[in-house]
Amino acid sequence: RIGHMTDGSCHFLANCSLYKKPFLEYYEETPLLVAVLTYMGYGILTIFGYLRDFLRHWNIEKCHVAREREEQKDFVPLYQDFENFYTRNLYMRIRDNWNRPICSVPGAKMDVMERVSHDYNWTFEHTGKVVKDVINMGSYNYLGFAENTGACADAAVECTKKYGAGVSSTRSEIGNLDIHEELEQLVARFLGVESSMAFGMGFATNSMNIPALTGKGCLILSDELNHASLVLGARLSGSTIRVFKHNNMQSLEKLLRDAIVNGQPRTHRPWKKILILVEGIYSMEGSIVRLPEVIALKKRYKAYLYLDEAHSIGALGPNGRGVVDYFGLDPKDVDIMMGTFTKSFGAAGGYIGGKKELIDYLRWHSHSALYATSMSPPVAQQIITSMKIIMGEDGTTLGADRLSQLSENTTYFRRKLHEMGFILYGNDDSPVVPLMLYMPAKIGAFGREMLKRNIGTVVVGFPATPIIESRARFCVSAAHTREMLDTVSASAALHC
Ligand SMILES: Cc1ncc(COP(=O)(O)O)c(C=O)c1O
Repeated sequence: RIGHMTDGSCHFLANCSLYKKPFLEYYEETPLLVAVLTYMGYGILTIFGYLRDFLRHWNIEKCHVAREREEQKDFVPLYQDFENFYTRNLYMRIRDNWNRPICSVPGAKMDVMERVSHDYNWTFEHTGKVVKDVINMGSYNYLGFAENTGACADAAVECTKKYGAGVSSTRSEIGNLDIHEELEQLVARFLGVESSMAFGMGFATNSMNIPALTGKGCLILSDELNHASLVLGARLSGSTIRVFKHNNMQSLEKLLRDAIVNGQPRTHRPWKKILILVEGIYSMEGSIVRLPEVIALKKRYKAYLYLDEAHSIGALGPNGRGVVDYFGLDPKDVDIMMGTFTKSFGAAGGYIGGKKELIDYLRWHSHSALYATSMSPPVAQQIITSMKIIMGEDGTTLGADRLSQLSENTTYFRRKLHEMGFILYGNDDSPVVPLMLYMPAKIGAFGREMLKRNIGTVVVGFPATPIIESRARFCVSAAHTREMLDTVSASAALHC
């Protein structure tokens, strides 16, 4: 394997004792010819885009997109920015690859509603037909708990009979059910922390809790590839934000050192606090955070650490307890443990775990605790049941089996694609598998051709990725069988 490979070497310490096993991640550089062809592809699309915008301007071509109202024509344009240009002229050509409605549980296989467009993807019509049994390589269903049968579904049904589906109040009013408290105690036990709080939405868990923790005069050090919810939370907090290179400990240490040496701009007062924001698994890169090094740095420079385990909780570690479990670290070394229930638990919502003082503080200071309706009871039940299965508290080995199946499937699928010559990104142990496509034309073609073969994939391009790094992003699940993974890899080989 060539390209940029990061191994277990520690950046700032002479020995590698922080890692108990080799830490291997691959980011092959874009081959020069591919980069040139990709830029040419975007260049041609851009030229045609400007041409079509010109035709639309003179009403020669019908304009479907939002435009300024006639009476506001002399205003500064509201819609004509570059991203809009991209949406109108590039994204529209391949728009059929996204927002496809599905009409089944998003398990290992799913049913997709067939659509057609008669106006080049501006609008879609359902044909009434359903494409059955499409292999689902897109859902974050790492442990296969997105199910409509089995223990979790049964428990959720019983729970709905008891509580109904909605709560109609916030936690601080009449929306604090016993099941929420049970869930929070279980999550704290699962994570190995003193206390936890559950929220109805993962995105809001980040965007509403970060502002409760930091504010003006505080410094946030954020990985450049952090999720939008972390970025929004950081911005809403009013803190100063500095961004370090993805998973790059030298870059993080440089920012930490600068922050300590120079303090706040102009006044040079020390920062009130420094908060490092990282994720467990990065969902576009398939990378795993270098947590042992981040913890060593945060201790050395006395900064706080906020870890978002949305994709790693349930999906990593011998006990499925996320990236802390994966590296064999102490959860107490992470100040704020955040995660979502939307992926491995097949449910909805998010959590924050940590010291009791932290959680008690958030209960009274977080907007998502005070102003948002609490989690739907059947959702809470789905999490409780699936988490107990993972912990083996249901008295079976089902959870352990799913964890080892996920790990086996990940290794098998990644190895198979590597052997076929595909360029993959990320960590060997990551169930998020980005397969590089590079060229804009391939984004649409890959998604469509895979669907023709009954495989549902997520394809991703600019602005979600750098312009020359378009990719297909597979999410491996414990529910996938060998045959499914073989079908997917063989079909991918046909179309790349
Ligand atoms: C890292 C990360 N954090 C937070 C979220 C938001 O979680 P949710 O989708 O559960 O609202 C996501 C969503 O994918 C995510 O990837």
